[in-house]
Amino acid sequence: MRQTRFESLKAGCSHSQIIPFATYSPWLDDEGFKTVYEIAKACTMVDIYRCYELYRLAQQCRNVAGDIVEIGVWRGGTAALMARALPEKAAHLFDTFTGVAKQDARFDTFYSGGEHADTDERIVTDLFAAVGAKAHIHRGIFPDDTLAALPAKVCIAHIDVDTYQSVKQSFESIWPNVQTNGVVVFDDYAIFGCEGANQAINEIVASVHNGLFVHNLNGHALLIKQAAAV
Ligand SMILES: C[S@@+](CC[C@H](N)C(=O)[O-])C[C@H]1O[C@@H](n2cnc3c(N)ncnc32)[C@H](O)[C@@H]1O
Repeated sequence: MRQTRFESLKAGCSHSQIIPFATYSPWLDDEGFKTVYEIAKACTMVDIYRCYELYRLAQQCRNVAGDIVEIGVWRGGTAALMARALPEKAAHLFDTFTGVAKQDARFDTFYSGGEHADTDERIVTDLFAAVGAKAHIHRGIFPDDTLAALPAKVCIAHIDVDTYQSVKQSFESIWPNVQTNGVVVFDDYAIFGCEGANQAINEIVASVHNGLFVHNLNGHALLIKQAAAV
């Protein structure tokens, strides 16, 4: 792995350009993924590496009880990929549709609130219609306004909300409902400018004892729910 350091925005949170030596690229050959990605890519700001990982993780949750949850939907691209990967599950999508919320100057180095407001629910419902899936959209700040709409059982949750407080509160609300072998996928982990989200995820990982943590170098962190000890 070759690395070039560049200046950190926050003490104790070093960044460097990471270029893995690995070259295997299954997203180029997976016809099911390519079909939906071609439609969804205009409605996501997430790169193809993370999109493919989300799609494959969702497929592998087919035998885990519960629904799909996404907090941080924007125009619906990543949500549509999960919904198509798991067509038998309901997809619950939570967003303010007025942009990033809960910015906290103590932790968030880049976000000031209101970013990514350039969307609306119609864009999401149109995308879902185009990929042949159904969206259950819950508009408002999560968890403050929309916690009641969270399904009792969750098989996969994608948390893509950019700021410290939103990441932390989203996770704390969702984790009790995630079923054994279900997964929480955090976007923004290790992304430059998302130091608040990074810190929230590190605090979560340090405090959770029934989750298997994976730091993927593509900007995702995963927490896989483990069975309770007997
Ligand atoms: C980076 S965008 C999501 C990107 C999207 N997953 C994609 O496929 O490109 C972040 C979204 O999180 C939403 N958001 C941030 N904090 C939130 C909160 N506490 N509750 C609901 N939505 C929130 C913003 O409105 C924004 O649409």
